[in-house]
Amino acid sequence: MPEITYRRAAKEDAGAIAGLERVCFPDDSWSEGMILEEIENDSAAFIVAEDGEKIVGCAMAWMIAPYECQIGTIEVLPEYRRMGIAINFMQKLMKISRLLGIWDILLEVRVSNAPAIALYESLGFVRDGIRKNYYPGGEDACNMSLHMPRPEEGFL
Ligand SMILES: CC(C)(COP(=O)(O)OP(=O)(O)OC[C@H]1O[C@@H](n2cnc3c(N)ncnc32)[C@H](O)[C@@H]1OP(=O)(O)O)[C@@H](O)C(=O)NCCC(=O)NCCS
Repeated sequence: MPEITYRRAAKEDAGAIAGLERVCFPDDSWSEGMILEEIENDSAAFIVAEDGEKIVGCAMAWMIAPYECQIGTIEVLPEYRRMGIAINFMQKLMKISRLLGIWDILLEVRVSNAPAIALYESLGFVRDGIRKNYYPGGEDACNMSLHMPRPEEGFL
């Protein structure tokens, strides 16, 4: 099992992340410019996973304090999947959210994306409904959310 490390994305990572996007989302990948914009966005948390110096996954979320964390992307190279990298990303984003006083996490996922839906459900996300024709090509999105308990709701 490779030793995976995690860090905040830097501007210099934009090209490598764009390559990751083309592998993980061949039909609707973000451009290098879009990625750079989010790395520089103070309201976004952008994390990469590395095997040595090779970026093997990334995750990004918009932190809209105090209301919600909106997951923007989460992706792992095929040969690094099922090693717990996405779970680690989600747990890090959940921790950042709590530190910012954000208790609700929202996301959209293609209705056909069984691996991602299984990932989110394993963390306690629930399905809130369907957004018709959400993706390029017309696929529907499944809206999912996680409400993390506040301290007064039994978090501590
Ligand atoms: C979805 C994705 C990010 C998961 O990444 P990953 O690092 O392989 O996920 P993890 O190893 O952390 O998996 C955690 C749990 O999610 C579920 N899961 C992940 N992949 C799964 C699969 N192919 N089939 C069924 N369950 C799966 C399992 O419950 C898994 O736990 P387990 O391995 O102990 O059974 C990855 O498949 C990916 O990059 N897909 C392409 C991009 C994408 O679709 N991103 C999500 C957009 S909303």
